[in-house]
Parts: sequence; C-alpha cells; structure tokens
Amino acid sequence: MATDRGGIPPTTIQHIRDTVDIVDVVSRYVTLSKTGQNYRGLCPFHNEKTPSFTVNPTRQMFYCFGCGTGGDVFSFLMSRERFGFVEAVTELAQQVGIEIPASSFPRSSQPDRDQRKTLEQLHALASDWFQQYLHDSTQGGEALTYLLNRGLTLDTLKEFGVGYALPSWDSLTQHLLRNGAKLADLVQSGLVVPKQSSQPEDAKRDGCYDRFRARVMVPIMDLRGNVIAFGGRVLDDGTPKYLNSPETPLFNKGRCLFGLDRARDSASQRNALLIVEGYFDVLVLHQFGIHHAVAPLGTALTAEHVSLIRRFVKNVVLMFDGDAAGVKATLRTMDVFLNSGVTVKVVRLPSGEDPDSYVRGHGAEQLLELEQQACPLVEFAVEQCLAGVTQASVEERMRRVDEVLSILAKVSNPIEKEEYLKQVAERLGIRQSLLMERSPVLAARERSHISRQQSQSIPPPSRTPERKGSREEHDIVTLLVQGMLEPAQMSMLRAEDFWAPEYRRLVEISLGQVGEDGQLNVDAFLAEAGVDPDSASVAAELAVSEQHFDDCHDYFKGCMEALARRRLKTTLDGLIARLRVAEHEQRVEEVDAINAEIESLREHKAGLVV
Ligand code: UTP
Ligand code: MN
Repeated sequence: MATDRGGIPPTTIQHIRDTVDIVDVVSRYVTLSKTGQNYRGLCPFHNEKTPSFTVNPTRQMFYCFGCGTGGDVFSFLMSRERFGFVEAVTELAQQVGIEIPASSFPRSSQPDRDQRKTLEQLHALASDWFQQYLHDSTQGGEALTYLLNRGLTLDTLKEFGVGYALPSWDSLTQHLLRNGAKLADLVQSGLVVPKQSSQPEDAKRDGCYDRFRARVMVPIMDLRGNVIAFGGRVLDDGTPKYLNSPETPLFNKGRCLFGLDRARDSASQRNALLIVEGYFDVLVLHQFGIHHAVAPLGTALTAEHVSLIRRFVKNVVLMFDGDAAGVKATLRTMDVFLNSGVTVKVVRLPSGEDPDSYVRGHGAEQLLELEQQACPLVEFAVEQCLAGVTQASVEERMRRVDEVLSILAKVSNPIEKEEYLKQVAERLGIRQSLLMERSPVLAARERSHISRQQSQSIPPPSRTPERKGSREEHDIVTLLVQGMLEPAQMSMLRAEDFWAPEYRRLVEISLGQVGEDGQLNVDAFLAEAGVDPDSASVAAELAVSEQHFDDCHDYFKGCMEALARRRLKTTLDGLIARLRVAEHEQRVEEVDAINAEIESLREHKAGLVV
C-alpha cells in the first residue's frame, strides 16, 4: 500500500512540499480564480464547462467535485504528467532548487539517471542541429522543398521539430564531440555508429560516423516532450525508406507512440485516440487540426502500448490502409486489445489511401466522419474471415467457421460473445446451436494457447467503489482534515468506529501522525493521505471543503456520541442474537450471563443520550 518514496528522506519530501505552492504549480496548467478560501478552475482531468476543480492554498490540496480526482501537489503532477511519486518529487525539487541527497537513490539508479540525462542532452543538441540545417537554404534546400511539396507547412515542421541530417559522414559526430560529448555516450545514444571497417586508417578518425545522413529527421519525444529518438526518411525512393534510432536506455519502440506527447490532451478530452501508421500521417493530421492522432514506430502494437494508452483514454480508433497488409496488421492487434479495458474500432481507408493522402484529398471533416463510423474490432475481424464465404466450399466454410470461433473465444464478455455468435450464424446460414457446439472445444483450446502472463500483464481498469458512511463519520473526518481537533479529541478517535473504509483509513493515518504532545501534525497527515491510494481523493475532497462548524467542541462531542451509540447498538444486536440461540437451546447459565451483559450495556447507552 505504502508509496515507494525511492529512499528520499521524509524530511526532504516535507521540505519540498512546504516550499512549493500548489497554486503556482496548478496555475501552469489551469487558469485559477479565487472564490472564498479556495481557487477554482476548469478541471484538467475531465471535460467540463463550469469549474469544479478546486485548490485549497491553506491545506495545499486540490479536488475536483466533478470527477473526484484529488490530492496534494505531488499527486497533481503524478496525475497530470503521469509521473511516479519519486519523479514528481524530483521534478518539484529541481524547480525550487532543493537538493535531494544522492544517497537517496538506490545505487543502481543514480548512474542510470545521469546517463539518461546525458543521452537526453545529446538528443536535444542533435535535434537543434538537424533543424538548423533544414532551414539552411544552401544545405537543406532540397529537404525543405521535399517537405513543402508534401503539403507540410513551416509551422507544422517547427512544431514537430522536423529537421535534416546532412549527407556528410560525420558532421553531427564532430559537432557533438566539439560540445564535449564522450564517444561512448554518442554510440550509446544511437546517433553515432562505430565503424566496423578493418581499415586501420578509418579507425584513427574516431572510428565513428553519423547514423543518419541525407535524411529528413523526425524527432520522437517522450511524454514530457524530450527528444528520445529519431526517424529519418530518405528524400527519394532509396531504401530503407525510414531509418529509426535503435533501442537505447531512452528509447524502446514497443513502449513508445509517435506524437503522444502532443495528442494526449486532445485524446483525453475526446476520450479517443486515433492510431495511424506513419510519421507523416500524424504530422499531416495535426496540421489539419486533428490532434488526437499517434503512430506506433513501424512495429505492431504491444501490450505495453495498450497500458500506456489506457492511462489517457478508453477508446481507440485504428485507421489503416485498406490494403491486405493493413488488414493483417489490424487483425494482429486483436490479442493485445481484447479484454484490455480499451475499446477498439477500426476504419479501413479506401485502398491506396493513407490518412495523410485522405485528409489532404477530402479534408478533416470527412476523415472525422470516417472515424465516427468506425467498426468494432471483433466485428471487423469476423467480417474479414467471412468475406466471400458464401461461394466457398464446405471445407473452406468450416475452416472459416473455426477461425471465427477462435476469434470469438477470446471475447470474455458472455453477452457480447453470444451476440457475435448470433450474427455469425446468420451470416453463414448455420444454426447457432451448431456453432455453439463447436465453440466450447475451441474455447478450451484457446485457453491453453494464450499465455497466462500476457492476459495478466494488463491489469483490469480500476473502479472507484461508492463511499458509504454516516454524516457523523464524514463530519468528524472533515474536522480532522481541517486540523480542528485538539489532543483530547484526538485521543478519543478509534479507527474501528468508522465504517466507511476511506474514513477509517484516514483516521488510521491521522493516529499515526500524532506527536508526543498529542497534537495532530496536519501537514504530515495530509501528506501521507495525499498519496494513499485508498483515501487520497476523500482527503482532498474534505480538505477543500468549505464546510464550517459553529461550535466545534459540542459538535464533535455529539458526533462521537452518535458513533458510540451505533457501536453499542451493534454489540447489543449481536448479544441479542446470541441470547436467542442460547434460549432456544436452553443453556440457562449462558442465558443469564448474556442477559446481565445486555443490561449493563443498556445502562451505559442510556447515559449517552444527549
Ligand atoms: P509507410 O511505408 O506507410 O510510410 O510506413 P509512411 O509513414 O506513410 O511514409 P511516407 O508517407 O511514404 O513518407 C509506416 C511506418 O512504418 C515505419 C515508419 O514508422 C513509418 O512511419 N517504417 C516504414 C519504418 O520504420 N521503416 C521503413 O523502412 C518503412
Ligand atoms: Mn504515407
């Protein structure tokens, strides 16, 4: 349960929290205006027209009354930037100039971090270098003309940082070396390739050359917009058409989607991500105002891609070439998407068209229209299997049936499965019962095929359970979060008196943050609650609540008595149930004992009446 603090000392974390102002941090993403004690703005985590996103400067917490996202400044960055806790803390520490002791990081990760930083710097330098030459008319004229001829504007090229790698063998290598880069880092970055030549005179000249030469350079960014790799395209029909960065400590193709850093906001708002095939499709779609488009990097979509996607959206539309290869690629994605919690639809473009040519030919509106009409992936797959089946031989039909059933066997929702089986039976003119007879066998066979690991590597989408709890529980915890309870009152709290799991958890956390003087350390309490997966949202909600209690003392007393009565009543109910059984079984001694216990509890309860 506990958040991994990556070995950063709690005092450092606290220092950072005290130094940073959540209002400043949130203001970088949201326009806030002051209302009462709080600031309000439009929530960055869901689409809304009236502001329900609230920041409380006193308690340094935020909460959205619309979508229930809430927490402290760290959880804000974690949600907004998809940082881990350590990353969020490190980022804020850097911003306010607080040093995190190097020993905080596990021994292995400090060099990793340094190395990543070095590689990021090299990529940033390279990206500037490439961009500079694209706009240098003597050297990059041909490349720029090529791009403009493809219909790209200077704005788009600038926005995506598109550049040009000179034809020279080692101009980038030399440039980076002049900037103090170490050869080993250059090789590790993938920007530079060591010569494998056996000629000794080659090895003398640093023994290295630029990986990318005479290519249009498309930078690939991580979610924070750092360049982590490149795709380089030839200007003519040369091969390979694209040369991509190799896998490096920064870059893993199977986890990266081109354009996601730019697409994420638009995709979250629409709750849909448009996946296309190529770099240029993404560039051109963005230019046409279609900002929720991304592309994998010339690989099939992986389960890791799906996990990444699921952080932003629950719906995906695949928009692929209508040709056979496009269809095959689409079908291959089925295993990773089925039962992943992400709904996938498919758009097949007219043969010979890709999103790039389509949007230039037909405009953005028509392309979005196609997206609207996309077909669910399973239906698409079934459709593909059954194409032309009516003319097929009996053997061929049976083969197709098995193929379809093996697709449907992977659908875990029984209602959906049944619906598809019905459709397939109709299409084939076969009785559904006959299909069903074949199906269980296939289902069993499939199960043994699909590796367990794969289906488990995608955790099910989380669900927030309804919170239950009496008004008294709610109000006491509100007082607690607002720091209104005195030591004597704190000492009366018992976690088990709170029945709603979130409130109970908050009381538990608070009791762990009571100092020797009996006083609750509210900051430390909120800090811990703010990152507690079970109670962060509730803590945030109560922290920004402007609920005011006139006479705290009396009010608290009343609430505590209500909880005590409830506790007694439950105990009494239990005793009475036991009494009935004992009476029924005529265990006289036990009956007397229980009666005595009940009597004393009743007296106690009477004393509680206010
Ligand atoms: P495409 O061949 O469809 O290229 O490859 P494209 O993006 O439409 O490019 P243009 O329009 O011809 O310029 C789709 C994707 O497959 C990867 C790239 O990521 C490309 O964007 N690919 C393709 C490679 O990695 N290497 C190749 O040689 C070809
Ligand atoms: Mn293309």
